[in-house]
Amino acid sequence: MMQTCFCFRAALLALPGVLLVPRIEADPAVFDAHLAKDPEGQSAFTFDVSDYEGDLSSLPIGVFDSGIGGLTVLEAILTLDTFHNENLKPGPDGRPDFENERFIYLGDQANMPYGNYAKAGKTDFLRELILKDTVFLLGNRYHQDGEIRFDKPPVKAIVIACNTATAYGFEDILAAVKRWKLPVIVVGVVEAGARGLLKASEEGAIGVLATVGTCESGVYPKTIQSTLGLAGRGVATITQQGSPDLAAVIEGDPTRTVTVKEQVALDVRRLVENHRSSQSGREIKPLSKIVLGCTHFPLVEKEIDDAFTALSKDPGLAPFIAPERHYIDPAEWTARQLFQELASAKLRRRDSPADTERDLFFLSVANPAPDSTGSDGRLNPDGSLTDAYKYGRDPGQFIEDTLVAPMTRTILPEAGRKLVSEKLPAVWTRLGE
Ligand code: DGL
Repeated sequence: MMQTCFCFRAALLALPGVLLVPRIEADPAVFDAHLAKDPEGQSAFTFDVSDYEGDLSSLPIGVFDSGIGGLTVLEAILTLDTFHNENLKPGPDGRPDFENERFIYLGDQANMPYGNYAKAGKTDFLRELILKDTVFLLGNRYHQDGEIRFDKPPVKAIVIACNTATAYGFEDILAAVKRWKLPVIVVGVVEAGARGLLKASEEGAIGVLATVGTCESGVYPKTIQSTLGLAGRGVATITQQGSPDLAAVIEGDPTRTVTVKEQVALDVRRLVENHRSSQSGREIKPLSKIVLGCTHFPLVEKEIDDAFTALSKDPGLAPFIAPERHYIDPAEWTARQLFQELASAKLRRRDSPADTERDLFFLSVANPAPDSTGSDGRLNPDGSLTDAYKYGRDPGQFIEDTLVAPMTRTILPEAGRKLVSEKLPAVWTRLGE
């Protein structure tokens, strides 16, 4: 059923350094009207409001991304040991900080890349997708073997393990949990990543590598400047570079023909060249701090650093690259922030989960077309959504054109399986066969 569009109000947000950027706020009425029709959470994109009464501390923590890239954030959470578990003081104690917690992961693979919706003029639709991810984590409903099941537990915290989703949806999720009166914690990777810069020297310039959407939103420059400003630092020099392809290449998307090394070389060159243009006529500040502003990029940090080293042999670019680069991986800072917020809300789980309480992983897939050949133009021959369909959609339609189903080792595409098994061992051991 078609409903009215997801509308926006523009407001102005002041930034340190007198910059004014439009800030867009979603009209929540359409989503709220949909939820109000089914407060027991039986239908798609709804949740059972009664799940949020009483003590939530034994509920799992929800983590979502547009695909499997957010598993890098989950890996950072699972392996974090920067606090004493008993007295909460800073410092490792040899025990994982989240040792008693259980996790629910959602990768919205069928609708990715999120980074390309802005370019297609579909930011409003992306924002609705992000709220749908949130509601999935809050709810009980999923699909398995052609049936709808309702045995997924709700969550006490939501980690937006996607830079693009944080850029476009963080404020919407915060506002939504407030409106829905849910005592649920919300943590996004961008703010945490900006805080990571506080540990780095003030010398030199900051480079942000992210998706095109994240760069277009301006969220990193805005958040970095305000985070540094609040800490009493001066205005930083920041250059961004959005890559429409690198995340897909890292994930092994069969439609991409370049290697990771080739794509990284191209994106790093563009960043340095952009930085050179932005520095023209000024005292040169070389790129010394690189924010890996897309979930996938920490997986290729070495290739990125090698690309900077190779480019610094070019005399035209060398002055714009610091001899040593410091990399900021927002994942680790997100994990720290999650721990601190759970602790201050007294939502840490004290007892160990029972053996039956496993972590759960989910992935969205395109809802198979009635005509499985996909001749209605909605599906590619491999069953994925066509770009024309994917980027042609409008918000306000609560139809299940994608379904959320359990993610297992076997269901992961070969490249994804290799990536998780080789680079994310803590996640791999928790992922079922
Ligand atoms: N996970 C996304 C991010 O961190 C990148 C992939 C996408 O564009 O969906 O921005």
